[in-house]
Amino acid sequence: MRLWGGVFSKGTDDTVRRLNDSLRFDWRLYDVDITGSRAWASALAQAGVLTIEERDQLLGGLERVRAEFAAGTFVTAPGDEDIHTAVERRLHEIAGQVAGKLHTGRSRNDQVATDLLLWLLGAAQQISAQLVALSVALIQQAERHTTTLMPGMTHFQPAQPITAAHWWLSHFWPLARDVERLEHAAGTWRARCPLGSGALAGTPYPIDRQALAESLGFSGVTANSLDAVADRDHAAEFLFIAALIGVHLSRLAEDLIIFANPSFGFARLDERFSTGSSLMPQKRNPDPLELARGKSGRLIGHLAGLLATLKALPSGYNKDLQEDKEPLFDAFDTLSALLPALTGLIETASLAPSKMRGALDPALLATDLADYLVEKGVPFREAHTVAGHTVRLAETRGVALPDLSAEDLAALSEQLAGDIAQVFDFAAAVARRSVVGGAGEQTGQLARARAWIRAKGVPASE
Ligand code: ARG
Repeated sequence: MRLWGGVFSKGTDDTVRRLNDSLRFDWRLYDVDITGSRAWASALAQAGVLTIEERDQLLGGLERVRAEFAAGTFVTAPGDEDIHTAVERRLHEIAGQVAGKLHTGRSRNDQVATDLLLWLLGAAQQISAQLVALSVALIQQAERHTTTLMPGMTHFQPAQPITAAHWWLSHFWPLARDVERLEHAAGTWRARCPLGSGALAGTPYPIDRQALAESLGFSGVTANSLDAVADRDHAAEFLFIAALIGVHLSRLAEDLIIFANPSFGFARLDERFSTGSSLMPQKRNPDPLELARGKSGRLIGHLAGLLATLKALPSGYNKDLQEDKEPLFDAFDTLSALLPALTGLIETASLAPSKMRGALDPALLATDLADYLVEKGVPFREAHTVAGHTVRLAETRGVALPDLSAEDLAALSEQLAGDIAQVFDFAAAVARRSVVGGAGEQTGQLARARAWIRAKGVPASE
């Protein structure tokens, strides 16, 4: 049975059938497809196109098809081109003739557009929940390390001391922004239900589109039927956010891979979250982190691929749009595999505070030395030069900054003649950066992070 066979006198060639058919991947839309069809059947009855009996037969039949999919007992037939034809074919077998009335005034074009939006709304919610779980793990690690000092880096060179809490939270905020991006995007998707757009010009039946949209959980309807059937902005937005999440996870992973290298020794992964080498018995490899870094490339590729597919499509629906689904499903699956694994990895990872503290060199306080001179009235530019000379002299003498002799210091600047020992206190240097968002303001920052988590419905610890 083909839905569109009337005008054709020949069957489709097998090669084209294989190329054209999408059921092998779009079966995942069965739940939203059936939800959408039930809403459409009700809207048709509301508009007087179907009788109440017909509507109820359709609603009951569709529920049975859904149950078959859910139980894994749905049997596909050779003519099942995509999820929409498969559901309608089975509905026909279950409910009989009346099934032929369901597609009145509807096209697979507005149907699949609606399905995809409904699926995306569910996907965005699930990814958000997984991101929140990972965020909680990051905050809990931060809470454990409010007094763990470590070198903060710029250009991957030791720069200034910070706390490990500040570093953990620097990976929390990007993910919090991703959750907000998903929520905001979902709000805009909900505002534009395409059902009722027909194939391109709109349905000729007196459908109350706003009521139909609301029955599906949307808040509004699309403004132009020709745009509505071809719009995949939401798919591109989801893939962009997925790619950005991938980038954020990759950066977190890269930091931890470096920290877990024994030359650093800052972090250790739990054995359940690292793997061994088949050859080298001593190896503890951070494979899940490497996969996070690697899979970000795949996520970026899905975004680039879909944008290339959309570019230069003529108005209205084109079959190219069927290419929207596999990248979306794969992006969702990829993140759904990564996020829980990374959550467990972060929960169980341990930092080595003594190693981190041991990596602090007094040279990381050169800025503070300059600030000390600024306090004595030396203009910052000059103070920077003097501090630079001081670092160089210490290097020449082969001593640490605080161990330069009083004569050396006096020769560098008369302002250094005083007691500069107070400058060489890492914790004090962190505490001085007490502006909002600074490393010395982490109590406030942690409170803001916990408040964010609580606002997402997670009871955050004290
Ligand atoms: N399987 C198709 C897709 O995913 C459904 C829409 C088909 N529409 C059409 N006019 N052939 O895009």
